[in-house]
This record gives sequence, structure tokens and C-alpha cells, in this order.
Amino acid sequence: MHANSSLPAAAQVQIDLAERSYPILIGTSLLADTLTYQHLPKAATALIVTNTTVAPLYAAQLMQALQPHFSKVLQVTLPDGEVYKDWPTLQLIFDALLENGCDRKTVLFALGGGVVGDMTGFAAASYMRGVPFVQVPTTLLAQVDSSVGGKTAINHPLGKNMIGAFYQPQLVVCDLDALKTLPDRELSAGLGEIIKYGPIADMAFLGWLEANLDALLAKDPAALAHAVQRSCEIKAWVVGQDERESGLRAILNFGHTFGHAIESGLGYGEWLHGEGVGCGMVMAAHLSQRLGRVDAAFVQRLTTLIERAGLPVKGPVLSATDNAGRYLDLMRIDKKSEAGEIRFVVIDGPGKAAVCAAPDALVREVIDGCCA
Ligand code: NAD
Ligand code: GLY
Repeated sequence: MHANSSLPAAAQVQIDLAERSYPILIGTSLLADTLTYQHLPKAATALIVTNTTVAPLYAAQLMQALQPHFSKVLQVTLPDGEVYKDWPTLQLIFDALLENGCDRKTVLFALGGGVVGDMTGFAAASYMRGVPFVQVPTTLLAQVDSSVGGKTAINHPLGKNMIGAFYQPQLVVCDLDALKTLPDRELSAGLGEIIKYGPIADMAFLGWLEANLDALLAKDPAALAHAVQRSCEIKAWVVGQDERESGLRAILNFGHTFGHAIESGLGYGEWLHGEGVGCGMVMAAHLSQRLGRVDAAFVQRLTTLIERAGLPVKGPVLSATDNAGRYLDLMRIDKKSEAGEIRFVVIDGPGKAAVCAAPDALVREVIDGCCA
């Protein structure tokens, strides 16, 4: 797809990946507008994948918008929750595809947050060895991060996002109107992933977030539009250089090594992903300071913003006997680990990130200092 003047008024950010390039549309009244989908590959069937919370809010609108483009628009509604980002739930998508005789041109539409998006993307990557899919993210987190860049996955009880594929969508539709129904806790979780883009890539954006956080928390449309667009621009810049995370893309995991340990250690769904990332960024910032890469003032500045966003800044205790040891064990099951050595994303001076190993003793000190 390419920019086209007949598309509804929306900002557009392009993901440049040669033949896998696609646009991210950001604006209002997009989801229900049939023109939004006019340049997709021609197919007989569309399958909307959504969940029990999002379906009653937006599935009918999407179905109506798709009907002029497909002779059949089907829907599969998954149970809601991170705990369902698993094999049996993924199987429900394949069941729907096969029971309805869906061919390899069928287009999947992920309507929901990051859980629906990651699972639909993985289903699209594997059904008949790959069918086209479209991301229609309805959470702030999904609009600024998970719907963009082609990482798809399900969780394993032993590790987060451990089974998946890189598989790019044809189009991402970020309809800011969908955020009107988003609960406050989920809004804060999305802010966690937005804040991350500042310290790793753009300190001016961090300053903008500090100045506009109250507007974002109040769901001010102009503030949300800017935050979503700038986040997508930064993610597009990173993914365009390193689609499959052979290097640079790892910086997008700032806070995630600690955060994923919290998520899997507590049991999926206890803390939201964005909450784990928020607290994980505080821990990773402390580690960066101990490694001599940033000063205390920087760590305090980031912690203050994360706390203002409504996110936890103290980690949970995961073991009464050896808490730091439990974090370390969980963090070893991470896609960045090499030969059992944990690799952390640290801030290497404001606005710049690096990936490095750190002595266990130092990491233990960070965890001990950061857990409530
Ligand atoms: P989520 O998908 O669980 O959605 C959060 C909650 O909000 C759910 O209950 C959902 O049903 C509900 N919801 C969604 N849209 C709504 C709306 N408009 N109004 C009211 N309720 C709505 O969580 P999330 O935060 O969107 O995504 C987290 C997931 O994304 C995690 O599994 C994480 O691993 C993944 N992720 C993936 C990437 C990637 O690059 N692929 C990046 C970041 C996160
Ligand atoms: N959310 C991390 C990435 O897309 O690489």
C-alpha cells in the first residue's frame, strides 16, 4: 500500500521494509471507514480476530466497513487476557479458519490490544504458511508498539513471547477514537511503552511527555495523536534498520528484561505488560547508573515520569527466600540471553541505549534496592 489522497484524513507513518513495507494510519473515524481498507489485497474472505471485551465495542463497525471489500466477513472471539496468549487459544483461530474453508488469500484482522494482535499475527504467519493480516489496535500500548514492526508470539509458562515469528502486517489502523473506552489502568500501561522511546532515542520527546503527561492522562485527542505518531516514527526508524533484531532493535526492549521476569514470575495477567515495562525501566535505569552510564539525576527524572504516568516503580517480591536469585533465573529465559548470560538494555547517556551483560552481584544490588 502507498499514500493515497483518497484515504481519510490521517497522519501516516511508513514502515520501510522493501516488499514488506506498509503504512500506519493514525487518526479518528478510521476503523469504521470502508475507505481505510480499500488498498488491501483482493480476497474473498476476511476473518476478524477479537476478544470478548472488544467485540461488543467495535466488531460490528469493523465488519460493516469490511463488507464492501470481501464477500464473506467472519469473526472469531477469543477469551480476554494475557493468560490466554497460549496454544489452546491460538488453536481457536486455526479452527475458525479451517472450519470455514478459508483459503490462503484470506485476510486476518486483529481487532484489540497487543494480546489479540500478537496472536493474530502468529496465526497469520503460520496458517497455510502465511496469509495477509491487518492490525487494528484498540489499546494505546498496541497503537504505539505491539501492532507495529511484525513481532508476533504466544507465551510459554516458562517465558514470555517465547514462541512466535517475525511477520509484517499489510496495514496498521490506529483509530484514536477507540481509546475513549480504554480503562485508565490500560492507558497508563500504554504510557509505559511511550515513555521508553524518550531515554532510548529522543530526549526532546521525553521533555514533551513531561510537559504533556496530564493531557495524555486526560485523553486529550491532540496529545494522544502526537504521542502515537512520534512513537510510531521512532519505532519505524528502528525497525527499518533492523527488522529481525540482529542488533539495534533490541533497544526497544528497554525495561523488558526485568519486566518480563515480573510478568512471568507473578503469573501472566497479574501485572499488565506496560506495568512490568514501567517498573523494569526504573530497574534498568538504576543498573545503567551503577554501570556508570547515566547519573542519579537522570534515574530520578525517569522514575518521576513513570510514577506520574500511574505505573509501579517498585518491583514485586517474587521469592521470600532469594528474591534477586529468582529474578535472575527468570531473566535468563530471555531472547536476548546468549549462552545463559543475561543481556540488558541500558541507557548509555540520555537518548542513547546499549545492550550489555552485567555482573550478577551488581544486578542483585539493583533488584534488592528496587523491590518493595
Ligand atoms: P491487552 O491486549 O491485554 O489489552 C488490554 C485490555 O484492554 C484487555 O482487557 C482488552 O480486552 C482491553 N481493551 C482493548 N481495547 C480496548 C478498548 N478500546 N476499550 C476498552 N477495553 C479495551 O494488552 P495490551 O497492553 O494492549 O498488550 C499487551 C501485549 O502486547 C502483551 O502480551 C505484550 O507482550 C504484547 N506486546 C507485543 C509487542 C510486539 O512488538 N509484538 C510490543 C509490546 C507488547
Ligand atoms: N516491542 C519490541 C519490539 O518490537 O522490538
